[in-house]
Amino acid sequence: MHEVVEKVLVSQDEIIHKCAELGAKITSDYKALNEVPYVVGLLKGSVPFMAEIIKHIDLDIQIDFMDVSSYQGTKSVGDIRIDKDLDCSVQGLSILLVEDIVDTGRTLKEVKRTLMNKGAKDVKVVSLLDKPDRRVVDIEAEYVGFAIPNEFVIGYGLDYDQKYRNLPYIGVLKREIYE
Ligand code: XMP
Ligand code: MG
Repeated sequence: MHEVVEKVLVSQDEIIHKCAELGAKITSDYKALNEVPYVVGLLKGSVPFMAEIIKHIDLDIQIDFMDVSSYQGTKSVGDIRIDKDLDCSVQGLSILLVEDIVDTGRTLKEVKRTLMNKGAKDVKVVSLLDKPDRRVVDIEAEYVGFAIPNEFVIGYGLDYDQKYRNLPYIGVLKREIYE
């Protein structure tokens, strides 16, 4: 275990097992809809989760990435700035957004709204983690790996100060590191 980690919350084995489960569910749900999702990872946190979960989606998907940042303004409803947009038009596409964690829900709500405004047919969300206690806007991911308590976590894509994204598990960051 890394020295900045208080405890491991979700092990690598558990994550891989969950990706297989989520991938199978996504496959059967989209097959039932007779649709193939355009799978979009939100940079950078989704990268390890994206890499694992797509191996378990048995459909002829395409993948893409988007990078967004939220405006820090006085408005309570956040706007987002797109730092890296998708490679193609979303017109008529069924998009499956891949996220590392849903926290307040602001980012997802804005990304979803933006994609729908640009003509996407449908936007669903798969998130590795969910912190339901922190939600301030009304949004839920259709597919969630693990609901976790309100603790700062790192690893498997999640960072503290841009580090620790490469840890192969989800760990709670020691308080002394950020306090
Ligand atoms: P929302 O808009 O749902 O933001 O508030 C989700 C984003 O917040 C970040 N986040 C975390 N990052 N450990 C992290 O490394 C955490 O415990 C954590 N909680 C929220 C993350 O960037 C996510 O995409
Ligand atoms: Mg993020």
